[in-house]
Amino acid sequence: MKEDTPILYPNERVGARVGAYAQEHTTGIPRHIVEYHGYVCDTMPETANYMVSTSQAQAMSFLAKTLGAKRILEVGVYVGLSSLVWSHAVGPEGRVTGLEFDPSFANLAEEAFKKYGVKNVEVIVGDALKTLPALSPTAPYDMIFIDAQKSGYPEYLKSILESSLPGSQNRLLRPGGLIIGDNTLRCSFVADDSEDNPWRQFDFGPRRSEYWKSDDIKTLRRYNEMVTEADRLENWLCPLWDGINISRLLD
Ligand SMILES: C[S@@+](CC[C@H](N)C(=O)[O-])C[C@H]1O[C@@H](n2cnc3c(N)ncnc32)[C@H](O)[C@@H]1O
Repeated sequence: MKEDTPILYPNERVGARVGAYAQEHTTGIPRHIVEYHGYVCDTMPETANYMVSTSQAQAMSFLAKTLGAKRILEVGVYVGLSSLVWSHAVGPEGRVTGLEFDPSFANLAEEAFKKYGVKNVEVIVGDALKTLPALSPTAPYDMIFIDAQKSGYPEYLKSILESSLPGSQNRLLRPGGLIIGDNTLRCSFVADDSEDNPWRQFDFGPRRSEYWKSDDIKTLRRYNEMVTEADRLENWLCPLWDGINISRLLD
């Protein structure tokens, strides 16, 4: 029988080489997105790791195109990198709505959209715990990307499911649409907080000491349980990057 355990690569160096090879042999994302990613890493090093990586961006774009997505909702925009990916994936006739709490991040995102001539993204500034339930789209979204504060994930999921009931007017997500929860394995700790996990010795910085015990880890576990237990969803928790939980709405 084939092993289920994803012992992906024997060490970090091999992992990095395989990652680079896979990225080179995957359809690329447009140049301006790669350029913007590099620019944010150079100019905002403190927060640049909020962004998805360029290889995750390739996978997200592939997924959205495979689904034929034309309308995508993003919860957590930061400075607009992943919005640029969705904007590219839906094409000029498609629409992206982003929800972002921090006005200064939203402004930087708007500047980037202007710079790159992107006209199909709208950012709504405010707490997504309020702005998400207030949405009443004229047509449902094909895909929803959850990438804001981890403590909000269960509430976002609950709200999406409640706003997407069969037969409801202005439903949020269409039947067959995807909900993608980012960071749902969180440096492995969501699945494994045992003492022999070497990542426990890693310095994640002062705000994340004893990270494996943090409320974020507990909330992400709750999110993963919710999508697994929901009769209305099928899901795949993909153990790549920081873990992406991809759920498909059945009804
Ligand atoms: C991980 S970053 C998003 C990164 C972005 N999706 C990307 O890959 O380029 C998370 C963002 O969520 C925002 N955020 C946090 N709490 C929020 C809330 N309650 N409502 C809306 N946005 C929130 C933060 O300000 C931050 O910009």
